[in-house]
Amino acid sequence: MSVFVNGNAIFDAARKGHYAVGAFNTNNLEWTRAILEAAKETKTPLLIQVSMGAAKYMGDYASVKHLVEDEMRVMNITVPVIMHLDHGNYEAAKACIKAGYSSVMFDGHDLPFEENLTKTKEIVKLAHERGISVEAEVGSIGGTEDGITGEGELASVSDAKAFADAGVDYLACGIGNIHGVYPENWKGLHFDRLKEIAAAIDTPLVLHGGSGIPKEQVQKAVKLGISKVNINTENQLAFAKATRAYIEAGKDEDKLAKGYDPRKLLAPGTQAIADTVKEIIGWLGTPSIKD
Ligand code: 13P
Repeated sequence: MSVFVNGNAIFDAARKGHYAVGAFNTNNLEWTRAILEAAKETKTPLLIQVSMGAAKYMGDYASVKHLVEDEMRVMNITVPVIMHLDHGNYEAAKACIKAGYSSVMFDGHDLPFEENLTKTKEIVKLAHERGISVEAEVGSIGGTEDGITGEGELASVSDAKAFADAGVDYLACGIGNIHGVYPENWKGLHFDRLKEIAAAIDTPLVLHGGSGIPKEQVQKAVKLGISKVNINTENQLAFAKATRAYIEAGKDEDKLAKGYDPRKLLAPGTQAIADTVKEIIGWLGTPSIKD
């Protein structure tokens, strides 16, 4: 039996309760442990998600799933955890359904609309037959590529409706959000469009690029219908900063204390990720599971 849960009950409750659940990208063992530690301490459900690139870096989809499962066992994690594929293409979504993920994102935003919709429906069918949740994307999430930061494409209400009707369990919508670090001249989230989409469909909505959005804007978006918030960069920055501080303090060169041991070298960064995840969970208002 799988140790993971799908997103159905968790996101029904989140949408109705006007709070959100965090989806945190894992990149390795330390990331996985830090995210699970935060879930354990806050007693809240969350998603551990992996991108196609991070899965390749770590091995393959099955190895990431096994890592998360094993860490949950070793750490005695009892809060619900959703094992999710982040921004998968068609093949990746199918591979993760096969590998036993409890949730997959099929991101067909770069396909023509009709093809994106048709393929999404195919993934929904395959996934739902196995009790797996599906996220899709309308509009597009901006980001920086080759030094040029794009705002992404605003999701249209009619496109969002079409994807909701296709049976997706949660829907990522472009509302001016951007992956990675936000540029200084970023204009903020498009709350009017978010309101229109949330009024038109009951499907829980997903905010990608959650790192670096001011707390007030995140919380306003959650009140308006965002139920899942994706975070990756914030944890990377926190990890890098803490690791830098350790090295700049010369601790890695302390031979007596064996400061060069990776278990010591990576500890402050790992703790920084756990602290960041806990802080974000607080922003999102995810309620603790009662004992
Ligand atoms: P950030 O890296 O900007 O937090 O975005 C994460 C994300 O949306 C993953 O899909």
